[in-house]
Amino acid sequence: MAEVLGFGGYVPEKVMSNEDWARLVDTSDEWITQRTGIKRRRFAADHEATADLAEAACREALEDAGLEPEDVDELVVATDTPEVYTPDTAAFLQHRMGMREIPAYDLGGSGCAGFVQALDVARARIAYRPRRVLVVGVELISRLISWEDRSTCVLFGDGAGAVLLGPEGGRARILEVVTGTDGSKADILGLLTGGTRRPFTLEAARRGDHRHLTMDGGEVFREAVRRMSSAVEELLGSIGRSIGDVALVIPHQANARIIDVVGRKLGTGRVYVNLTEYGNTGSASVPLALWEAQATGRIRPGDLVVLTAFGAGFHWGAAALPF
Ligand code: UT7
Repeated sequence: MAEVLGFGGYVPEKVMSNEDWARLVDTSDEWITQRTGIKRRRFAADHEATADLAEAACREALEDAGLEPEDVDELVVATDTPEVYTPDTAAFLQHRMGMREIPAYDLGGSGCAGFVQALDVARARIAYRPRRVLVVGVELISRLISWEDRSTCVLFGDGAGAVLLGPEGGRARILEVVTGTDGSKADILGLLTGGTRRPFTLEAARRGDHRHLTMDGGEVFREAVRRMSSAVEELLGSIGRSIGDVALVIPHQANARIIDVVGRKLGTGRVYVNLTEYGNTGSASVPLALWEAQATGRIRPGDLVVLTAFGAGFHWGAAALPF
């Protein structure tokens, strides 16, 4: 059984408000607030890259657990905005933090569902052979998306969240995780230029394709609601619990209206929301919210907490964490 030994999170200092965006693109605080619930988001400083954000969250999780980087046996980084294209961010992070020569790898491309998928992998690795696995969800989205496309740029923020898992002695257990994929929707949300299908060219770069996030907002909205709520129902069914037993649902923080409908479909008002301050931080959103919720006393010993996430792919997942 995997347990959470420590929680960590990091958001950059720079605050980007809706008013700041309204000075750059044709939008308004009113539109962004009404359609998304987001008021502010954090953006990384010029000198920061993905591994810097991840490192800050990882160090916090280790400190919370009272452990050192050399105590980590495996590292999983969930990100869609890596330090460089190859090698993965985990390689930079392993060296930067002074970890031993442990297995370290990225789980990339799962969009905002990456962290929950990584939790599932980590708990399976611990069940296979007891070890301490550091799992971090991190995104530095502000640097890779178009600052001119108002339909996507206002949604996102940068940040990182981490958990240190081990076989025993933690403050919460990873009781169960369910995940799923529907690849028939793979072209509906993503960064589709830069791979082998459509490699970078000068013309593509001139058009700004390398920063163009393809997104059918309405379809993503509907699928996010459907998949996040059904993942929680499947999860609760598999552990023989009902929504009334859940003290707090921590959903992916994409849009307050999505979260609201998910809560109503599930029949609970006990849903954590922090996107007002951070926007959609991709793979970082669930671990960042989890870190904040437990640090601010929203979670008490004995609480059953449920995480649920949805992202590009489409991928989704839900996890049950009894504290
Ligand atoms: O984690 C996965 C990442 N993505 C998501 O989670 C996105 C999920 N979808 C959503 O959150 C919502 O669909 C959005 C917030 C993206 C859009 O909200 P909506 O209520 O579905 O608006 P819409 O796309 O139907 O657009 C309504 C109008 C359009 O104008 P017209 O065609 O009605 O004249 C847009 O051009 O709002 C316009 N619009 C904006 N106006 C001001 C789009 N973006 C903006 C903007 N400011 N930033």
